[in-house]
Amino acid sequence: MLQVQNRNLPTHGAGFMARAMTWDVIIIGAGAAGMMCAIEAGRRGRSVLVLDHAKAAGEKIRISGGGRCNFTNFDIQPDRFLSQNPRFALSALKRYTQWDFIAMVDAAGIPWHEKTLGQLFCDRSAKDVIAMLLGAMDDAGAQLRLNTSVEAVAQREGGFRIETSAGALDCAALVIATGGKSIPKMGATGFGYKIAEQFGLNLIETRPALVPLTFAEQELARTKDLAGASVTAKVACNGASFDEGLLFTHRGLSGPSVLQISSYWREGDLLEVDLAAVANVGETLKTARASAGRVSVKNALARVIPEKLAAQVVAEVGLEGNLADQNNAAIDRLADRVHRWQIKPVGSEGYRTAEVTLGGVDTDHLDARTMEAKAVPGLYFIGEVVDVTGWLGGYNFQWAWSSGWAAGQVC
Ligand code: FDA
Repeated sequence: MLQVQNRNLPTHGAGFMARAMTWDVIIIGAGAAGMMCAIEAGRRGRSVLVLDHAKAAGEKIRISGGGRCNFTNFDIQPDRFLSQNPRFALSALKRYTQWDFIAMVDAAGIPWHEKTLGQLFCDRSAKDVIAMLLGAMDDAGAQLRLNTSVEAVAQREGGFRIETSAGALDCAALVIATGGKSIPKMGATGFGYKIAEQFGLNLIETRPALVPLTFAEQELARTKDLAGASVTAKVACNGASFDEGLLFTHRGLSGPSVLQISSYWREGDLLEVDLAAVANVGETLKTARASAGRVSVKNALARVIPEKLAAQVVAEVGLEGNLADQNNAAIDRLADRVHRWQIKPVGSEGYRTAEVTLGGVDTDHLDARTMEAKAVPGLYFIGEVVDVTGWLGGYNFQWAWSSGWAAGQVC
């Protein structure tokens, strides 16, 4: 738990009981971005207070990566972030890189490993990352006040007044680090968007992203028996494609490749799915026909994709009998159905399960170097509340660290 420090204390003159306490920097939101910003601003000698209405800091870090926090990625590239202005994130990502965060993790003695595709996870627990951040905040003299909700924010001479459930607070710089709308039961409120609107900043329409996709009843009737089956699939939509795991669920599709494509998919769009991305079904079945023609088509296909899926695909294409009974055109039709399955989801599971929120505070209204609102000096937006959304795989935390670090240099 953070201790009150005897440095960086807020300034308050005589008679302060009647006046609001004054801080150099107040950060609303003790998530990844807010804590990183607090560390950096505190290190610069600023008096820093972080407010959060939750009962613990870094709750999303705690549950992230299945409890092991996929805290960054070896391969941070600009094209792995979605935004109306794809260049906006570059400055922060270049100035505070994945290597900087890895160095911080190493200095804290946290063991980690690469899982797949450059994704870095804690060996032990995501709680290691939270403890590291809280420790660094403590060292930097930043203070944390939990269970505190913010009721109103107003601009005043020299800064801002924040009305909280624990009274009024004044600050010179106000940093909004309240995240997006995903997982409301964990404290996500969309509060940051309201503040942006209050101060005249534009918002890019928000929608759930990195989220499972759902099917209409008719499609579900065909696929729900497959719930639990998984394949390595290439899923494509709107010019993007991802070659990772796909999972059939009771409501539609999930798995990394589907979560990834959900950021690109819009209502009405078809997904094109290669259900056997690592195989060539046509070649495999034709070769098998020559050496084991008495194997049923279904069993032959079940060597490439899960049995239930194989049975369904073979029935849908209308093939019966053994491999030897099939001519090349029939095998090609089957291969086409496996490699080019077209499916139109009807929606997504929504913010209830989405990992992130696409859209947010319009980057045109923010300074890319500092995250400060161009028209409101002293007001900063960092992390997920900004219209920058990363791919699955540690990219969203890297954006939180980088944007929090950037604001922390100047706020
Ligand atoms: P974040 O949401 O972390 O923090 C916002 C804080 O503001 C919260 O503490 C909240 O309580 C507080 N707050 C909100 N409204 C408030 C108000 N009105 N008053 C006071 N406080 C308020 N990313 C990744 O890179 N690797 C991963 O492994 C995962 N895994 C993952 C799993 C799951 C289940 C989810 C939901 C998300 C992920 N993510 C992820 C995404 C990642 O968690 C997310 O992008 C970052 O946490 C965003 O950090 P922020 O600090 O911007 O917001």
